[in-house]
Amino acid sequence: MKYIALITGASAGIGRAFARQIADSYPSLDEIWVLARRREALKELTRERPGIVFRIFALDLSREEQLESLERKLRKERPCIRLLVNSAGCGKSGPVESQDWRDACRMLDVNCRALTAVTMICLPYLKPGSRLLQVGSGSAFLPQPGFAVYAASKSYVLSFDRALEMELKHRNITVTSVCPGPVDTDFFRMGGITLSPIKKLFLVKPEKVTRKALLDAEAGKSLSICSLSIRMVRLAAKLLPQRLLLELMRAVLL
Ligand SMILES: NC(=O)c1ccc[n+]([C@@H]2O[C@H](COP(=O)([O-])OP(=O)(O)OC[C@H]3O[C@@H](n4cnc5c(N)ncnc54)[C@H](OP(=O)(O)O)[C@@H]3O)[C@@H](O)[C@H]2O)c1
Repeated sequence: MKYIALITGASAGIGRAFARQIADSYPSLDEIWVLARRREALKELTRERPGIVFRIFALDLSREEQLESLERKLRKERPCIRLLVNSAGCGKSGPVESQDWRDACRMLDVNCRALTAVTMICLPYLKPGSRLLQVGSGSAFLPQPGFAVYAASKSYVLSFDRALEMELKHRNITVTSVCPGPVDTDFFRMGGITLSPIKKLFLVKPEKVTRKALLDAEAGKSLSICSLSIRMVRLAAKLLPQRLLLELMRAVLL
């Protein structure tokens, strides 16, 4: 049986950091399957680690027929997915009123629909001891004026993960929601987002997020949060009235 890791969003940012770190830390894997739309960026990644067998899947995960091609490939090869990392995602900010609904729906297609589809397509190939890592966001813990659709999409991921974790317990498969604050990747540039000075203060490197996430996943933790600021947000969301927090965020973020 072939043991693999499958990583979406591996052409850039957090997904690419996961791919590099998994390549370095899991020498017993037979192959690492990397997925994203940009084939050239995936090829570049694979050239960095010539000793590792990477398989490149240049797929647009928002397109159903491309998800089906992944399903067919897995059905044919029947590997054991030791690690599944769903990192593909995108974000657009700004008041809902000012956004194009098509952009908002495209974001939901990648952040929610594709993540759900890839997870479900891969489930038959996860075995006892396999780890599922879902890249959510610190914005999952609280609605976010000015980033409403994105934050809601990440709340979906968190809710999905917690329920799935319970469903998979009997198979000894863990689900870890990775919830970083702002990370120093192309995410903001791709979404045309200008990072606020407050958020800039809390930027972390993707490697810090992925290192902790892999340790947390191996420890079977449900959540992986690498920064104090997001821990505080989560605590505040549990302890304080939501209305108060939302008014505060409106004042700071809009
Ligand atoms: N950066 C942050 O501040 C931050 C904070 C919290 C959470 N996150 C989450 O972290 C995850 C990764 O973001 P990042 O910061 O690494 O951003 P990034 O550098 O822009 O990377 C996004 C990745 O998603 C892939 N992707 C986007 N749309 C896709 C599609 N339709 N089909 C296939 N792949 C697609 C991109 O590949 P292609 O363009 O090649 O398709 C790229 O590899 C996202 O889920 C994001 O929401 C980011």
